[in-house]
Amino acid sequence: MRGTLAAGKTTITKGIALSLGITEPITSPTFTIVSEYEGKLHLYHIDVYRLDSCEDFVNLGSDEMLYGNGVSVIEWSEKIQDEIPAKAITINLETNKDNSRTITITNWPYGDLQ
Ligand SMILES: Nc1ncnc2c1ncn2[C@@H]1O[C@H](COP(=O)(O)OP(=O)(O)OP(=O)(O)O)[C@@H](O)[C@H]1O
Ligand SMILES: [Mg+2]
Repeated sequence: MRGTLAAGKTTITKGIALSLGITEPITSPTFTIVSEYEGKLHLYHIDVYRLDSCEDFVNLGSDEMLYGNGVSVIEWSEKIQDEIPAKAITINLETNKDNSRTITITNWPYGDLQ
């Protein structure tokens, strides 16, 4: 998931968590890097803003998060682009002048959306 500071990345994750039936409050993982929740599927909510390298992400257990059975939502994913699987869905958020958001979803299996 891409988008400048405060674009709404964590807010979208709250919606994804809701759709997975997660009732626990979703908080920003900026300082913890990874938060995990149990729902219809396991949710990894990851914020790589504070990581320095792809290697740091791999050392956190990226294989399990990206190639296990759960859903991974990654804020600032462009920072670790080399580790992002080819089939990952990309959500791009832009804040418009009137404070509305333009959200573009690419690599969605049913076609790109805006
Ligand atoms: N679609 C939207 N329209 C208006 N305000 C929004 C929208 N989405 C989120 N916000 C507001 O913007 C603020 C930042 O949202 P959020 O924490 O989800 O952003 P973020 O992209 O995760 O930020 P960060 O870069 O700090 O991780 C919050 O106050 C939230 O309520
Ligand atoms: Mg956030």
